[in-house]
Amino acid sequence: TPTRPLVVAVDGPSGSGKSSVSRAVASRLGLAYLDTGAMYRAATWWCLDQGVALVDGDAVAAAVRAMPLVMGVDPKAPGVHVGGTDVAEPIRTTEISAAVSAVATNLEVRDELRRLQRAAIDAERSDGGFSGGRGIVAEGRDITTVVAPGADARLLLTASEEARLARRALEIHGQAGVAQVEATRDQVLRRDSDDATVSSFHVAADGVATVDSSALSFEQTVDAVLAVIEQVTADR
Ligand code: DC
Repeated sequence: TPTRPLVVAVDGPSGSGKSSVSRAVASRLGLAYLDTGAMYRAATWWCLDQGVALVDGDAVAAAVRAMPLVMGVDPKAPGVHVGGTDVAEPIRTTEISAAVSAVATNLEVRDELRRLQRAAIDAERSDGGFSGGRGIVAEGRDITTVVAPGADARLLLTASEEARLARRALEIHGQAGVAQVEATRDQVLRRDSDDATVSSFHVAADGVATVDSSALSFEQTVDAVLAVIEQVTADR
């Protein structure tokens, strides 16, 4: 019997591991994967590339509405292209990380990107999408609450501040010693407080299951998320 499409929404702060965990979960279940943070990063890259002043909210919104963004939804190779340009690497620079909040707090930008996110999710509910109608894991800050509040499974992936700082330090510096953790502290905490002005992703909304990865390995976190999905889909 053909199964109904499965929509999984995952929110969480930076350093919670939500991107790598969501990708692994999507791979495991044969679902598409959407990194919505990458969309805000691509919008920021595009504005800077077009010479748009980020303080000019109207110009930023107009530029984002005209952005030729193509999001790849294969969890094994989730590409990000703007026009013909592969921006997967340039959107991860510290320049973009420092500037992205200015774009992500623009309400017109959020409306436009949320529209694209809902369209990508809808595409995976139909046979024509990447997953052939199996569904999608969409990941970000406002997916469980605003973009896909009706998702089949909704999860908040959290981790303690120390755990998130250590992971970020490892990612950026290849080490998580005292010096590397201190070097990332300001960056991570400042971005957390900037992001918090847009959506409150530190607290699980009604009906959202919390997975705390602080004391879990990557594989254990993936298994915990899969267990939540199994639970909520068992009786549908
Ligand atoms: O998850 P990330 O670090 O790639 O996210 C990049 C930025 O985009 C971050 O400042 C939070 C913002 N964001 C958002 O406002 N809403 C989302 N759904 C996803 C990301």
